[in-house]
Amino acid sequence: MKRFDFDTPVNRKGTCCEKWDEQGGDFIPLWVADMDFKSPEPILEAVKNRMDHGVFGYTEYDWELTDTIVEYYKKYYGYEIDPEWIVWVPSVMPGANIACRCAGGKIMYNTPMYPHIRRLPEEAHCPYQEIPLCKKDGIYTFDMEAMEAELERDVKVFVLCNPHNPVGRVFTKEELEEIVEFCEKHDLLLISDEIHSQLIFEGTHIPAFMISEKAKMRSITLTSAAKTYNIPAIPFAFAIIPNEEIRKRYKDIAKGLFATPDALTAKAVKAAYTQCDDWREALIHYLKENRDYLEERISGIPGLKVNHNEATYLSWIDATGLNVDNPWEFFRKEAGVNFSNGEDFGYPGYLRLNFGCTKALLKEALDKVEGAVKSCQVRTQ
Ligand SMILES: Cc1ncc(COP(=O)(O)O)c(C=O)c1O
Repeated sequence: MKRFDFDTPVNRKGTCCEKWDEQGGDFIPLWVADMDFKSPEPILEAVKNRMDHGVFGYTEYDWELTDTIVEYYKKYYGYEIDPEWIVWVPSVMPGANIACRCAGGKIMYNTPMYPHIRRLPEEAHCPYQEIPLCKKDGIYTFDMEAMEAELERDVKVFVLCNPHNPVGRVFTKEELEEIVEFCEKHDLLLISDEIHSQLIFEGTHIPAFMISEKAKMRSITLTSAAKTYNIPAIPFAFAIIPNEEIRKRYKDIAKGLFATPDALTAKAVKAAYTQCDDWREALIHYLKENRDYLEERISGIPGLKVNHNEATYLSWIDATGLNVDNPWEFFRKEAGVNFSNGEDFGYPGYLRLNFGCTKALLKEALDKVEGAVKSCQVRTQ
């Protein structure tokens, strides 16, 4: 495997960086879901070349972007997408917002869930129903029984997150088939957020629309290169909408809302999808080592339990055994470490840890976390 440097820290402070600059204090930031690594060289080169041109006038949509996406699905999933199905959006969440508006009814999703999906009801003005995931043999999965029993009559949409943020699952073909059947039975639009689909450690990512013809006809898939290549600031994502009627509704709602992605964006995204496979492979290797190290360290800290990640650089920690009122506040105050607060995912007492950082920073944070738990135990004995 080609070697890349993920160990040299990059100073992100003072760059309007949400993760490092917007914490309300000086903390080790293990929260916002971006990585502390520089993006791969071909992306940086593409951006530099565009900058060197020096003129930033109005641009037309670059249709090579669509071709690139078609090629990408062919290469990774052996699936030939019709280019017509692809609708660009500036990022996944506005794309999901439009998707919710398409169905015009209550949305259902499972908790814990990525907070911005939990904000869709407020942002897309739709009512919602939350059903918790359940655990089978210690593994988070869909609670199909509860979903069937408790489904409210006006639910029109099911929002799937696969791979799942925050529990790091890569749902199996069987699990996805159950979801598709559920949507079919209750006539629900299936919105599938697949933004983490290129960061897989174990298992195989199956795009939901590939499950069956039924899935294809009732789904809107949303994804982008943002997570994998660490370019969430580059405004490009896309929806895959095979059903012509749904696609028309989607495009009607989106009409006039977004500026066309400029050439800088197009060049960066094309480079990501076509020239960065070796970087991604090395990244996955590095992240996997971080995951394994994290699991080992957390298993040695009393009161904390960590979930096993099959994908994503976001890990889910059960801190309910700690015996503190608010573990998020506790670790900010006592360890100087800023996690994402489980409460925002619908699970108070839990934490989400972003391990998309250097090994050295992860070790420093975990040393502090361990130290804080130990001194708290000494105080309460
Ligand atoms: C599951 C999921 N969907 C969407 C997003 C955000 O996507 P975007 O920045 O493209 O709107 C994130 C970012 O953390 C995410 O984890």
